[in-house]
Amino acid sequence: MPVQRNKTEEDITAEVLRRFAETPDPRLRQIMLGLVKHLHAFVNEVELTEAEWFQAIEILTEAGRMCSDKRQEFILFSDTLGVSMVVDLISHRKPDGATESTVFGPFHRLGAPELPAGGNIAHLDKTGTPTLVSGRVLDLDGKPIAGALLDVWQAQSNGLYDSQDASLSGLHMRGKFRTDTEGRYLVRTVRPVHYPIPSDGPVGRMLRATGRHPWRPAHIHFVVSADGYEPVTTHIFDRTDEYLGSDAVFAVKGSLICDFVRHEAATSESTRLGIDPPFLTADFDFCLKPASEGRATVLDAQRRLAALGTAG
Ligand code: BEZ
Ligand code: FE
Repeated sequence: MPVQRNKTEEDITAEVLRRFAETPDPRLRQIMLGLVKHLHAFVNEVELTEAEWFQAIEILTEAGRMCSDKRQEFILFSDTLGVSMVVDLISHRKPDGATESTVFGPFHRLGAPELPAGGNIAHLDKTGTPTLVSGRVLDLDGKPIAGALLDVWQAQSNGLYDSQDASLSGLHMRGKFRTDTEGRYLVRTVRPVHYPIPSDGPVGRMLRATGRHPWRPAHIHFVVSADGYEPVTTHIFDRTDEYLGSDAVFAVKGSLICDFVRHEAATSESTRLGIDPPFLTADFDFCLKPASEGRATVLDAQRRLAALGTAG
């Protein structure tokens, strides 16, 4: 009787690939075959032990348990592993001139109030430096887009988002603004600060174990949308921030870096809005590209995600 040879890792990989080879949907087939190929190659390359495999299961289980309408540990893993930004770059190849996108992050919430031009998203923040962010929303030809919607959110000057701050029960540092007939918007806020991403869960442990810091450079989040245009999910970053070169989630793009200019004296606008100096101004134009026909946008996905929790 011929001696049967022992099964090898290659046998298993080949068998798993064969089982997925008849997947009817071609895109799903491509994804599953690629996933199995690379996952098996990774496990083989590092010679993953059973104990390490079990540790990975524990980490993923803990990540799942931590997720709620206020916390998304899987997005945090994706962000800190740089996967979110690779997906961003693949998904949003922008023509020159269109505003570049960056990570959505885990802190967006539905239900931000619609505010008039100059409305203050930071009304409860008494320690931050008052800041006026203004600019236009334009098309690729530089023509203003009237009625564009800017969904804005930001961490408070204590470095916490409203959902992380136990002293708050409702929404804070969030607002929706519409552009006027000249495509202009005006947001009143406080100076953004750098802050650490949540590090009390498995992502934090990964960062500490690998000698990485958890800081994100100071930024303000925007989703800018308008009928007939592709929405852009992005940030503006403070040019002076010390973490611009080492963002924990790799999300900085040069075109999104902005000057926050300090004013020691009142201007007509600060007086009109009742802001005492010193204050800052930042000027940033957003540029949208036309929507592609029938294409699901990242905004659709974000709405689905938000609806998974009872985000409000
Ligand atoms: C944020 O900027 O809100 C964020 C993005 C990615 C991970 C954590 C926080
Ligand atoms: Fe943020």
